Amino acid sequence: MRTRWKSVEIALAGFAALWTASADAQTVKIGVISSYSGAAGGSVIADLMDKAINLYVKQNESKLGGVKIELVRRDDTGIAPDTAKRLAQELITRDRVQFITGLIYTPNANAVAPLATEAKVPVVIMNAGTSSTMRLSPYLARVSFTLWQSSYPLGQWAAKQPNTKKAFTAVADYGPGIDAEQAFTKAFTDGGGQIVGSVRMPPTNAEMTPFLQRALDAKPDVLFVFVPAGTQATAIMKIYGDLGMAKAGIKLIGPGDLTPDEELPNMGGIASTDGIITMHHYTANAKRPENLAFVDAWKKEYGPNSSPSFYSVAAWDGMDAIFTAIRAQNGRVDGDKTMEILKTWQNPASPRGPVRIDPETRDVVQNEYMRRLERVDGKLVNVEFETIPMVKDPWPQFNPPPR
Ligand code: PHB
Repeated sequence: MRTRWKSVEIALAGFAALWTASADAQTVKIGVISSYSGAAGGSVIADLMDKAINLYVKQNESKLGGVKIELVRRDDTGIAPDTAKRLAQELITRDRVQFITGLIYTPNANAVAPLATEAKVPVVIMNAGTSSTMRLSPYLARVSFTLWQSSYPLGQWAAKQPNTKKAFTAVADYGPGIDAEQAFTKAFTDGGGQIVGSVRMPPTNAEMTPFLQRALDAKPDVLFVFVPAGTQATAIMKIYGDLGMAKAGIKLIGPGDLTPDEELPNMGGIASTDGIITMHHYTANAKRPENLAFVDAWKKEYGPNSSPSFYSVAAWDGMDAIFTAIRAQNGRVDGDKTMEILKTWQNPASPRGPVRIDPETRDVVQNEYMRRLERVDGKLVNVEFETIPMVKDPWPQFNPPPR
């Protein structure tokens, strides 16, 4: 009898040891699809996202109760939906990742969505900002922004400004640009303004002077521009200066993609940038204590000349959402359970201010800040001057889901 009990005991101990060993060895694989190369200029964005991912993992992996994180990075090479789709397929079937994240460009996020549904693999979007993307799969959650979220309140604000009755819109001709145009146009015209012309420009590497020349000829009070963040933002600023649009009294405004923090040094020599108004959810220059701490930790890690940008704060919060789901499931993550957790994720103390996911749309809810481009100690910075609290993406309200 004793020996029988003993053997049961040994078996149980063995089982427990195995269980603990497997728990100890638990590794969660996270696929990161990002634009590490390519003509769209996403490599700067990818780098600023990666730095935040790495810093978050470094600071927080030890708090996962022994669960280890493995990041599997793949380069989608820019706006390249077929590549993104192939990479997602490989990450799911070969690498067996439990999450997919990254995704700078909308067409790539859209291409990955059906695979997420098929495999029940949660996808946390760290940048792509087209509103309708969220309808493509119940396995998407977004921690970045939408263009409606910034451009709609900006249109409302613009319509209320004195001597601002006529606007011209110029946007990159794909998902986020079309959203930005429609959001601004709706808010501005509902507020009594008039659109005197609009152009859609090729999304990458376009010669944009002829488009802005048309804006100049239309003599609007304001020119609203969306281009995907990166070097194109600086190109717009140069053309705006070279065509003498500021001198002609045309004010330039747009979502914060027009003045991304890391491009501001490249815009420093352009005098007509001063005073440009943008609407966005994040600038590294924000003075909230949580942001000061974030920027400080960033500079300690990456040096005094490196600074986070809006992609960095999305990557930071995205990792926090993913880690929250991993922790709640002790590392044994299930796709459906994970989506339930992601839907209620929130961080009242993000560097960008309070942020949460709307359980109904799985989309991000956050403050939008009005900012003015100013020179502080000789350097251009986005200075926040007004807060619109906890903005939900306005698009679903005007485009209810089909029943
Ligand atoms: C997008 O493709 O959704 C996108 C890319 C860059 C931005 C904003 C949106 O700055």
